[in-house]
Amino acid sequence: MLRFQIIAAIFTLAAGVIATPMLTHTKRQNVGEATYYHPGEGACGHYNTSDQPVLALSVDIWNNGKHCLQWVELTDPATGITQRGQVVDECQGCDSTHVDLSPSLFESLGAPLSLGVIKPLDWKFA
Ligand SMILES: *[C@@H]1O[C@H](CO)[C@@H](O)[C@H](O)[C@H]1NC(C)=O
Repeated sequence: MLRFQIIAAIFTLAAGVIATPMLTHTKRQNVGEATYYHPGEGACGHYNTSDQPVLALSVDIWNNGKHCLQWVELTDPATGITQRGQVVDECQGCDSTHVDLSPSLFESLGAPLSLGVIKPLDWKFA
């Protein structure tokens, strides 16, 4: 009986250790903010333009380019509009859940560029 409890405890610990990092920033809903920038040659090694729905991730989530070309679903709770954008770059000055969007992606959320920042902004990997 004691042996069973020890084995069960080890499995529970192992499952927790394995499961936790996989949930981090993957399918989780992030609440952050968005600003905009003018894309060019991005850290993913592609050239993108301001009229394409692309974005840059913070250094925290960038993770050596692990999310390059992945799609992100973004919702501006103020307008209720949801759009998709593709990860093409890294944002050096962004804190963890801050995403930097191309001007067209920013505007497609229903926010004028003159607003400068969309906060809060909900986003997750699509
Ligand atoms: C970004 O640029 C790459 C390389 O040209 C292209 O394959 C990709 O489709 C572009 N992304 C978007 C959303 O237009």
